[in-house]
Amino acid sequence: MNDRDSERIAGILESEGYLNTDKVVDADLIVVNTCSIRQKAEDKFFSQLGRFKGLKKRRPALKIAVAGCIAQQMGMAIIKRAPYVDYVVGTQNIHAFKDLNALNSQIITEDNPQILELNFRSKRKNTLKALVNIMYGCNNFCSYCIVPFTRGREKSRASEDIINEIKELANKGYKEVMLLGQNVNSYKGDVSFAGLLRYIDSIEGIERIRFMTSHPKDLSDDLIEAFGRLKKLCEHIHLPLQSGSSRILQLMNRKYTYEEYLEKIQRLRGRCPDIAITSDIIAGFPGETEEDHNLTLKALKDIEFDGLFTFKYSPRAGTAASRLPEQLDEDTKDRRLQEINTLQDEITEKKNKRLIDSYLEVLIESPSDRAGFDFMGRTRTNKIVYVNSKNSIPYGSILKIQIKKANRHSLEADVERP
Ligand code: 5AD
Ligand code: SF4
Repeated sequence: MNDRDSERIAGILESEGYLNTDKVVDADLIVVNTCSIRQKAEDKFFSQLGRFKGLKKRRPALKIAVAGCIAQQMGMAIIKRAPYVDYVVGTQNIHAFKDLNALNSQIITEDNPQILELNFRSKRKNTLKALVNIMYGCNNFCSYCIVPFTRGREKSRASEDIINEIKELANKGYKEVMLLGQNVNSYKGDVSFAGLLRYIDSIEGIERIRFMTSHPKDLSDDLIEAFGRLKKLCEHIHLPLQSGSSRILQLMNRKYTYEEYLEKIQRLRGRCPDIAITSDIIAGFPGETEEDHNLTLKALKDIEFDGLFTFKYSPRAGTAASRLPEQLDEDTKDRRLQEINTLQDEITEKKNKRLIDSYLEVLIESPSDRAGFDFMGRTRTNKIVYVNSKNSIPYGSILKIQIKKANRHSLEADVERP
């Protein structure tokens, strides 16, 4: 979501005549697009900001703007702490970059009902894969999470706008779209989310559809049915579990039990046996006992995710969980995180090894960033494949390739004749 916002900010600035520079000392305007999901992101932001202080002193004409979730959450407090910041632009007010000089306030963080209609030029990072917002905000209030406070209530874009955007992307040669929302299953346009997927599936030129993120409580039968039925919908779902303990899930306000989650996984695999499933886990939520933690480890063994994003619980000001009495010490949180990672590493590697010798569809995306390989691509299940080929392969090609080797975070393959 933040990456997409950065693309939109860059696009607006470019249409206003700004040029991008890699050298921060050359900049007339520095925009810091921030994340506040965990304390670590917030700490990084303030140390980064500190480095700009000297620049501003030397060149007072330099403007510094802070955007994103920290901007939304802290507002004026950012300028109190760092008086050399010129503008604080919240998550719903990206349009303010259209004319910063015309703003009559340094701080713009109000709710913006027009967020759905705003359609500025954006400067996309990738030429094959595009991020496409389908909704903004979140209504779920998971007890640990700051997002509902920083991104406001759920608002869905009209399906027509989304489809037009994707058609335009297809015309420009894009092959893949990633539909973005904090909780895409609760998309409420004039069609359901599954209905939206059906429309997008028929757009010529687009070969792959992905989405992120879906909430287990809202994962509908309709959506489960779409896997394996819609040709372009990739066989991958990111379905954050957070904890294997139903007691902790309840404290997290996730609104499902572990058993209910497992049942959805079984239905997904029943519908689409090769689907890759990835997840998020939080280690050390307040009050998490050794028994709860062991239930999470057991869940990982039972489910065998294809990959996992793991996080140490980080108390966020204003959230319900930050007020719970039994906050755990850092050592316990660190140890549990470590145990989760060690276990999942084994599982990920084991699962990848099962793919050796199979033929998988790979979209060739870019030159290899690893020495000894020519190209980098991804399978429909979103696994990275390093490819060797004596001949050149145009980016955007989709090939069936036999997997030769499997590592923990990637697969390897050779192409004789593309
Ligand atoms: N502490 C740790 N992890 C968090 N996440 C969200 N909020 C927190 C927090 N306060 C994780 C969740 C979510 C992912 C995007 O970030 O696992 O799914
Ligand atoms: Fe945060 Fe929960 Fe909303 Fe995801 S669904 S953004 S974890 S409140």
